[in-house]
Amino acid sequence: MNSVSSFAPGPLPEFLPASAASGSAPDRVRIDLGDRSYPILIGPALLGWADTFQGLPQASTALIVSNTSVAPLYAQTLQAALQSRYARVLLVTLPDGEVHKDWPTLQLIFDALLENACDRKTVLFALGGGVVGDMTGFAAASYMRGVPFVQVPTTLLAQVDSSVGGKTAINHPLGKNMVGAFYQPQLVVCDLDVLRTLPARELSAGLAEIIKYGPIADMAFLAWIEDQLPALLARDPAALGQAVRRSCEIKAWVVGQDEREAGLRAILNFGHTFGHAIEAGMGYGQWLHGEAVGCGMVMAAHLSERLGLIDAALVTRLTRLIQAAGLPVVGPRLAALDNAGRYLELMRLDKKSEAGAIKFVVIDSPGSAAVRSAPDAVVREVIDATCVAA
Ligand code: NAD
Ligand code: GLY
Repeated sequence: MNSVSSFAPGPLPEFLPASAASGSAPDRVRIDLGDRSYPILIGPALLGWADTFQGLPQASTALIVSNTSVAPLYAQTLQAALQSRYARVLLVTLPDGEVHKDWPTLQLIFDALLENACDRKTVLFALGGGVVGDMTGFAAASYMRGVPFVQVPTTLLAQVDSSVGGKTAINHPLGKNMVGAFYQPQLVVCDLDVLRTLPARELSAGLAEIIKYGPIADMAFLAWIEDQLPALLARDPAALGQAVRRSCEIKAWVVGQDEREAGLRAILNFGHTFGHAIEAGMGYGQWLHGEAVGCGMVMAAHLSERLGLIDAALVTRLTRLIQAAGLPVVGPRLAALDNAGRYLELMRLDKKSEAGAIKFVVIDSPGSAAVRSAPDAVVREVIDATCVAA
């Protein structure tokens, strides 16, 4: 018997594409979590604007955490904006890459904090993609048992997903994001201008997490993405602004109902069970997280169809969109002999697994998702049908 968890979430606010940010005021989305609530600001030129950071807790020191690729581009601008607010604005620059989302790199943040005698009021600023954001958040959660932090996401993926909702973590060689904490930021600042320097492959990776919100929550948004894909790929600021805003609205709606993933929040992991197996199985950094999620969504859609939940037309529609966004739609082989067995072995380590039983996020009807287990034989069929042939 397959176990199923369905959810009855409150109504999602309607998608109103016409009301995107206009004029000079940034768009705002609020994460409602009682005394842990915070705003997400979305708009151009936010990074260098001192007003962006109004309302943050008073402190003498700010520590910007960035990496070797992003710091040369944007750290100076952020530093200048923060100098009117903090007596000391420090910078620690981490090595770049998913492969560095680990203990030794996390330690560099603690080294910088302690070498500069940073007190427990020090505010950390994560300036970078999801890797920097996840590590800075984890450092903030644990330094002196918790200091405030701000997310300044510089990839599309981080703006639409990882900077919002308070999941922080580092990887373990045996599994992705296995060591971490729930810890909410004070503010998220999505400056759309920084997306101009993002490599095309990273832009596509971000589109994967945007596409994700359609089949699990909002088919009108899925249709809008299909329509606007050329504009999104061309980095049209209005299209990007709307995509970031709607993604954050949907994420805020989910996280506001289930901050610590007791149920509903798991739907945000659509495509991630297969995707995390690809990332770990290939070696972190070989496939970008968004690429693995994109391909993982194709696999999860096939599984939904084989379980009799959706028809083949939706699988085809999603696969076409993911491919058109510049993402892989065929899974890699993770083992020469028993490829499906290797996927299953890696997926049993997924955080949603219970007593070794893998839980998949499936589409149970267009625009709605559920969590359920599936017979290994069916999962094997899906993997065999969606991966590179031997
Ligand atoms: P990333 O952080 O590795 O950034 C991608 C690359 O782009 C890096 O080389 C980075 O240096 C570079 N870069 C960043 N901003 C740039 C800019 N503006 N211009 C030029 N280059 C820039 O990858 P990502 O896709 O942002 O994040 C992936 C990570 O996020 C994964 O570790 C994943 O597990 C995590 N994640 C976390 C959550 C969450 O809820 N916490 C959700 C989704 C993903
Ligand atoms: N990215 C999945 C989540 O935040 O829950």
